[in-house]
Amino acid sequence: MGRLRVAVLISGRGSNLQALIAACGDSAFPAEIVFVVSSRPEAPGLSFARAAEIPCVAITDRDRRSFAAQADPLLREQRVELICLAGFMRLLETGFVEAWSDRIINIHPSLLPSFRGLKAQRQALVAGVRFTGCTVHFVRPEVDCGPIIGQAVVPVHPGDDEAQLSDRILGVEHRLYPMALRLIAEGRVRIVGERVEIEGWRAPQLTALNPQDNPGEPFASHRS
Ligand code: GRF
Repeated sequence: MGRLRVAVLISGRGSNLQALIAACGDSAFPAEIVFVVSSRPEAPGLSFARAAEIPCVAITDRDRRSFAAQADPLLREQRVELICLAGFMRLLETGFVEAWSDRIINIHPSLLPSFRGLKAQRQALVAGVRFTGCTVHFVRPEVDCGPIIGQAVVPVHPGDDEAQLSDRILGVEHRLYPMALRLIAEGRVRIVGERVEIEGWRAPQLTALNPQDNPGEPFASHRS
């Protein structure tokens, strides 16, 4: 079986695109990035696509319907099987999401369903949560909704500002997104109802407290 043909949609920096390109650089990885679409021609992330010689295009139309009308035929022409949104700052037309049903995934910098929408890291700081993180999920027409594939958790440190917390989350985004893509490409991810089942899923045997009761022992082993 060939590798899963993936398109990545970006709008800016493209560090998640870079992480996905790096993962796909291993010929044993079960997915390949065949196409990159940016909503901004000047997006710095496009340089990663160009460096990796991945065909890329900028579609700048702000109207959802005309964005979809331009993107859809190009994605089909490239025989794309899965779309990864990675810092893509446009809302997708409902018809487009439905046409690509269960074949679009997104990464969001919070533990969904908390802190949907813009500035999720700032929302977490304002709410005073002690842990936050990121989520990879299947895309539904409502923003930042859809069956959850995987999540990664980071602690909030006292005195964190938005940039520090965002950097900490970004570090785990770059691990989680390639991992979620690999699980999908291996055919191990199924949507049952509106929840995801993963074949061979193992959860970590760890729990964490924040604040810590014993700073020398950040994680308690937890077996239930
Ligand atoms: C990431 O924090 C991602 O979770 C969010 O937008 C940001 C994109 O960063 N959806 P990058 O462009 O991948 O560096």
